[in-house]
Amino acid sequence: MRTLTLQIFGLLFISLNRAHGLNQFPENFVVAKRNNENPVTLTCDTETDGAVTWKFHGEVMEDVVLQANVQQDGRTLTVSDVDTPMLGQYSCWRGGEMLSSTYLLLEAEEEDELGSPILCRAKSYDCRFMCKWINSGYKAVRLGLGQNCTEGGRSCHWVSSSDELPDGGFQFELSHSLSPFAEESTMLEVTAEAFTDLSILRATKRFYLRDIVQPDSPQNVRCQKVEQALNVTIDPPSSWSVPHSFFGLEHEIEYMLKDNGKTERSSSALITKRISKLRVRCRDSLVLSTWSQWTPWKNVTY
Ligand SMILES: *[C@@H]1O[C@H](CO)[C@@H](O)[C@H](O)[C@H]1NC(C)=O
Ligand SMILES: *[C@@H]1O[C@H](CO)[C@@H](O)[C@H](O)[C@H]1NC(C)=O
Repeated sequence: MRTLTLQIFGLLFISLNRAHGLNQFPENFVVAKRNNENPVTLTCDTETDGAVTWKFHGEVMEDVVLQANVQQDGRTLTVSDVDTPMLGQYSCWRGGEMLSSTYLLLEAEEEDELGSPILCRAKSYDCRFMCKWINSGYKAVRLGLGQNCTEGGRSCHWVSSSDELPDGGFQFELSHSLSPFAEESTMLEVTAEAFTDLSILRATKRFYLRDIVQPDSPQNVRCQKVEQALNVTIDPPSSWSVPHSFFGLEHEIEYMLKDNGKTERSSSALITKRISKLRVRCRDSLVLSTWSQWTPWKNVTY
């Protein structure tokens, strides 16, 4: 008896939650702009003729308190002075059959004094790069590349995520189709939509691929004694673009002096041999990209 009651309660809770507190982007939605008096039009998506009726959260429109703001004209429904109570699911029906359903959402207020909520990074000039949505407080976020997404068109290929990172952000892997060998003249354009509580925040960021390049740390650091100096050989990270002769990297070596424990840095591969340990980092030598992370310290013994 106890479990049965709980189950029923659980089901009720889930269905209420579905209706009013979505955790995902609804399949169809229309976004009303904030502080905009223009009414929003919802269209019943059906191929067949005949009268339709609309429901709001499953209630027939005549019974909805806010019906004064809603006007039906054939298959379209016009909602004016959109405000929080009017957000949610509108469905159109003929007889007992639901023909289509769409959510009315509100554009969220920008919080952009803090800068763009989108951070992107490429480990190389290859086609894949990562972006992170860094604002917390959203249930689902999706990212799309290109003008089709900036314009919010249906032809945008969204990459969705509802797996929140521990810090409240969301992470994405995107692909571009720029040639790594061509001089880069086209900016990448990433658009994000972030969803929570029937509101949507939209943000776009434009950048050149070269501006988001940050190589991984170098691998295989080797040292060789050359008379009074140490010759440090560093291999590029395995994720870096090939051929390495074309995609040149420059390095910085940080080392700790044996005598006094002070650290110094060098951009030349030949350093003093009187050191106890060293670490290195790299960056694209042509565009002077962001430096990679340092490698872990490596003890030097010879
Ligand atoms: C953008 O949309 C148009 C049609 O709406 C389509 O032909 C084009 O391939 C799309 N572009 C991309 C990059 O998906
Ligand atoms: C340092 O090592 C690299 C690779 O082992 C070698 O090509 C280079 O000639 C060496 N430089 C000196 C000054 O010995």
